Amino acid sequence: MLVIPVCLSAAYIDGLADAVEQGLVKAVGVSNYNEQRLRSAHAQLKKRGVPLASNQVNYSLIYRAPESNGVKRACEDLGVTLIAYSPIAQGILSGKYSPDNPPSGPRGRIYNKDYLTKAAPLLQSIREIGQRYGKTSTQVSLNWLMAQGNVIPIPGAKTAAQAEEFAGALGWTLTDNEVRELRQLATRVTPVMGFPVESF
Ligand SMILES: *[C@@H]1O[C@H](CO)[C@@H](O)[C@H](O)[C@H]1NC(C)=O
Repeated sequence: MLVIPVCLSAAYIDGLADAVEQGLVKAVGVSNYNEQRLRSAHAQLKKRGVPLASNQVNYSLIYRAPESNGVKRACEDLGVTLIAYSPIAQGILSGKYSPDNPPSGPRGRIYNKDYLTKAAPLLQSIREIGQRYGKTSTQVSLNWLMAQGNVIPIPGAKTAAQAEEFAGALGWTLTDNEVRELRQLATRVTPVMGFPVESF
């Protein structure tokens, strides 16, 4: 990961605009920019006539910080696509874990029995909704993100089968009621803070 110190970010953004002008890249995107940095990067690029294409941030059903910290709204205001990384929250939203079957390793300390018990109603509803469409929990979780509008999730595929599963998140749409129901259940699950990179 590359962290650009705030004092250098004006020069950094100028460099990105240079890269567009020189035809080295087609578009500029940033990652983990909070609202203020996003707005200022957008304004600075605008002066050079360069659009800001995207801001890549952590966003999923169980980590909805972009909705409350102003990033999602700012992306919509500015025409910046929100790219959602960790969209299935390290596999938690795939439904493969349960209170009696937590993930192994360091993830199991965060997503422990207690956490998975609280998340059970959400995970259950994701599963049931998936059954209506013949879709997996992962596909439902990705579809939910796309239903938020202006959001492109980027799940990481390690195998061809996973890539195929992710592709099955496309071509159908959750109803507004299903989107709302999942959000409601998700609000009962306290988000786990990763490394809070958005605060820089
Ligand atoms: C993103 O959020 C998920 C879910 O809360 C968390 O498990 C993960 O560590 C976070 N990743 C980063 C890089 O913050």
